[in-house]
Amino acid sequence: MYLQRRNRILRKSAAVRSLVSETILTPNDFIAPLFIDEGKNIATEIASMPGYYRRSLDLTVKEVKELWSLGIKCVLLFIKCKDEWKDNTGKEAWNKNGLMQRSIRTIKNAVPEMIVMTDVALDPYSSYGHDGIVKDGEIVNDETVEALVRMSLSHAEAGADFVAPSDMMDGRIGAIRTALEENHFTGTGIMSYSAKYASCFYGPFRDALDSAPGFGDKKTYQMDYANRTEAIKETLMDIEEGADIVMVKPAMAYLDIIREIKNAVEVPVSAYHVSGEYAMIKAAAKAGWLDENKAIIESLTSIKRAGADLIATYFAKDAVKILTR
Ligand code: PBG
Repeated sequence: MYLQRRNRILRKSAAVRSLVSETILTPNDFIAPLFIDEGKNIATEIASMPGYYRRSLDLTVKEVKELWSLGIKCVLLFIKCKDEWKDNTGKEAWNKNGLMQRSIRTIKNAVPEMIVMTDVALDPYSSYGHDGIVKDGEIVNDETVEALVRMSLSHAEAGADFVAPSDMMDGRIGAIRTALEENHFTGTGIMSYSAKYASCFYGPFRDALDSAPGFGDKKTYQMDYANRTEAIKETLMDIEEGADIVMVKPAMAYLDIIREIKNAVEVPVSAYHVSGEYAMIKAAAKAGWLDENKAIIESLTSIKRAGADLIATYFAKDAVKILTR
C-alpha cells in the first residue's frame, strides 16, 4: 500500500503518544468531597463506598493536610447531622456552631490556602431527607430558597470560599448572590449544581450521610435524565443569576451534557463523578473484573475530555497517587 496518511505513526510509542496527548489530568483538576461526622478520632468506612470514610473533624483535618501535600487544592464538605437535630425547617443547617460551620473554620485555620466548598441543600438536616421544606407532601420552592440563603450566609461567615447549592430549587442562585452582596461577602463564590439529574447513582452517598428521602423521590426538583436542552436552560439561568462555576451531575452517564454545556458557556464547568460511579468501579475491581487504577484514570480522563474543567471525585487522592507514580 502507498498511503498518504498513516495515523498509527502518532501512536507508535509511549513517548509519541504522550507528546500528542490531548487531555492530561493534573491535581488541579480535582475537588475532593469529604464526609464529616461528630466525635473524635473516628473513621467509619461507608459500606457501599469501600475505601471511603466518614471522619470526625480531627481526622478530617489530617486528611486535608495530606490532600494539600499531594497537590489537591479544593475540598467539598458534607456533614452527617445527628437525627435529633433534624427537622422540617432544616434549621441546624445555619447553626453558627453547627458541625459544618465548625468544620469550615477549623479547616481554613489549619490549611488556609485550601479552597473550601460547601454543599448547600437541606437533605442532611431534613427529617424527611428532602433537599427542601415539605408542605402537604410537596417540596416548597420559595421557603426553601430562604433557608438556603441563611445556610449559605452562615457558610460564608464561617469562611467558605465557595458555596455549592445542590438542591435544584428555582431562583436560589440569584437569591444567594444577592444575599452575599448585601452582607458584604463579596469574595465568596457560588459553584452551582446547575444540571443535576434525578439519578440512581446517588444511592451510596445517601448511605454515607443517612440522607435518603423518607417518602417519594427527588424528581420534582432534580432533572429528568431523558432531557438535554433543559440542562442548558438551567445552566444559562444559573450563570445569569450569578454562578461562578456550573456543574453537571452525575458525570459518566452525562458526558454529552458536559460537552454541550462546555460549548455553551464562558464560566468553568465542573462535573461530579458521584458515589454510585465510584461504587461501580470499586465493586468490579474487587470482583477482579476491572483493573481499578486503569478504570479510575480512564474514567476521569473521559470526563475531562468531555469538557469538565473540574472534577469532583472520590478518587481524587487515588488519581493523584496513580498519576505521579
Ligand atoms: C445533596 C447531595 C447529593 C449528592 C451531592 N449533594 C445527594 C442527592 O441529591 O440526593 C450526591 C453525591 C454523590 O452521589 O456522590 N443534595
